[in-house]
Amino acid sequence: MNTVILVAGAGGFIGGHLVKTLLERSLPVRGVDMKPLTEWYQVHPGAENLVLDLAGIDACRIATKGVREIFNLAADMGGMGFIENNKALCMLSVLINTHLLMAARESGAQRFFFSSSACVYPDYRQRDADIPGLKESDAYPAMPEDGYGWEKLFSERMCRHFREDFGLVTRAARYHNVYGPHGTWDGGREKAPAAICRKVAQAVLSGRHEIEIWGDGEQTRSFMYIDDCLEGSLRLMHSDCEEPLNVGSDEMVSINQLVDIVEDIAGVKLRRAYKLDAPKGVRGRNSDNDLIKARLGWAPSITLRDGLAKTYAWVYEQVAAQKSS
Ligand code: NAD
Ligand code: GDD
Repeated sequence: MNTVILVAGAGGFIGGHLVKTLLERSLPVRGVDMKPLTEWYQVHPGAENLVLDLAGIDACRIATKGVREIFNLAADMGGMGFIENNKALCMLSVLINTHLLMAARESGAQRFFFSSSACVYPDYRQRDADIPGLKESDAYPAMPEDGYGWEKLFSERMCRHFREDFGLVTRAARYHNVYGPHGTWDGGREKAPAAICRKVAQAVLSGRHEIEIWGDGEQTRSFMYIDDCLEGSLRLMHSDCEEPLNVGSDEMVSINQLVDIVEDIAGVKLRRAYKLDAPKGVRGRNSDNDLIKARLGWAPSITLRDGLAKTYAWVYEQVAAQKSS
């Protein structure tokens, strides 16, 4: 009987945390990522850790051998600075999900989780900073984020068809901007929470008094702390909810408000330099959590202030270590 739980993308941010959570529940875990082990954000010795490029079907067959459940968190992705400039690479992640689904079917896996994104929602619903939360039904008529969003929407549908045609139980979470310790914090793929934490920490450590902010700072988002992301993903995976579900915070803030909170945590006030020609993405985005409450009887609840306090402390340590090395 298949017993193992596969976490694809285990060397990344969410995957690394998920492996840890599953091991804490005494479950047998196989973590797979294409990065060399030395580059994994977290390596948990209690798991079987494999380095494989899951864009290929043969690697997916090795990864899914004997597995009961699959969490697909592997994708070539990042924040706006990455996805706006790497659309082909983002779309190539379709190979990972497609081949994992095919291999899952062959191996007799029972459940398959796909990490989709708020980027599936159409641009025409996100043109104002002060917008209502995005409902799951808003995804159609489709006009998602160019590149990355189209891949996510297509892969959601691929999961649905594997469920309907082949009986593989599939679940899809539309994550809204996830942050926390052990996430990407520099190098170009970082998202706003980690980027702002890094810039504030760099200012504190170097005695600078200014930070650069992309856009005019009035664009809005909601940010979900990693612990809520893990809880929501595990609940969704084991629920009977077949349609894609928002897994995101509904605490909407402007980027200026995000900076205010990080400054407050760090105990500084910095001059803000707005870079208006930087990648900005949609003008406003928030999660509507009515459906997740109805389907799972639960919704993310960790406040941005609490999550950022933990994240800033971790990012500060990374910046300090980098500075002293
Ligand atoms: P991440 O970049 O930290 O982790 C993804 C991992 O996938 C990386 O370690 C990468 O090396 C690995 N990977 C990429 N291509 C691979 C391949 N061909 N074979 C094997 N491994 C490969 O990203 P994350 O923040 O942990 O996101 C996990 C998932 O959640 C992704 O599908 C992402 O699109 C989705 N998501 C994340 C967010 C967020 O805010 N973090 C928001 C929406 C959706
Ligand atoms: N990354 C980044 N870095 N963004 C900044 C910065 C900075 O230094 N300063 C301001 N911003 C602004 C961006 O211009 C954008 O308007 C907003 O902060 C949010 O940027 P990101 O966090 O990079 O991405 P996003 O919220 O638009 O999209 C992210 O979340 C999706 C899910 O909700 C991306 O990571 C997508 O890949 C993900 O699917």
